[in-house]
Amino acid sequence: MRLDKYLSACGFGTRSEVKRLIRSGAVCVGGCDKISAETKLNEESAEVYVDGVRAVYRRFVYLMLNKPSGYLSAVWDREKPVVTDLVPPEYAHFDVFPAGRLDIDTVGLMILTNDGGLAHRILSPKNHVPKTYIARVDGTVDDAEVNAFRFGMDLGDFTTKPAELDVISVSDGVSECRVTISEGKFHQIKRMFEKVGRRVIFLRRIAMNGLVLDESLREGELRELTDRELELLTNGK
Ligand code: URA
Repeated sequence: MRLDKYLSACGFGTRSEVKRLIRSGAVCVGGCDKISAETKLNEESAEVYVDGVRAVYRRFVYLMLNKPSGYLSAVWDREKPVVTDLVPPEYAHFDVFPAGRLDIDTVGLMILTNDGGLAHRILSPKNHVPKTYIARVDGTVDDAEVNAFRFGMDLGDFTTKPAELDVISVSDGVSECRVTISEGKFHQIKRMFEKVGRRVIFLRRIAMNGLVLDESLREGELRELTDRELELLTNGK
C-alpha cells in the first residue's frame, strides 16, 4: 500500500493533507531513508511514525449515518443521490457501502462500512437481528392490528415472523408507532401496515440490535461507531 493511503487509513487526514504532512518531514518509515507519498509498504507490518508517534493502521471503518430522505441505499446510481455521497473525503479510501437497505423515503439509522463480514452477520436472515422503526400511519391503530403484527402475517410471497407493534400516540388522525421486526424484506413495514389497511406516511429506523441512533446526528450527518456501539450492533448487548 502507498504511504499516503496508509496514513489516511490511520486517520491522518485526506490524501492531500497527508501528502503535505509527508513533505513537511513529520513522517518516518522504519527501514526507509527516503520516503514520499508513493513509498510502498506492507500495512500489516509497517512501522510508521508521525512526529515520533506510531501510526496505527486499521482496515475497517464503521459509520453511523442518519439517512435523509431522497437518498438511495447504494454506492452509485445513474440519476439519484446515494448514501455514500454523504461520506466525507477523509473516509473516501475506505470504500464503504451500506450494510442493508432503507427505502429512498425512509430516514434514520444506517451503517456504512467496508467490513463485509460484519454486514453479513447483521443482515443474514439466520441471525434474526432486530430492527426498530418509528412509523407514522394514517388512522387509529387498534389491538387487532397489534395482534396481527405479533402473530405474523401472510404477505403472499412470505409469512412474516412475529413483530412488535406499540402505539405511542394518536393525534390528528395519525398513529405514531414503534415497530420491531427481525427480518429485512423489501418494503416489509410498509407492506405489513398495508395488509391491515394502513398507509405509512413516515418511517424512521432508530435501532439495530442493541445499537441506537445518536439523536444528536442531524439527517445527512454521520460519525464513527464507538467500540461499545460496535459491540452492541454485533452482539446486541
Ligand atoms: N420497511 C420498509 O417498508 N421500508 C424500509 O425502508 C425499511 C423497512
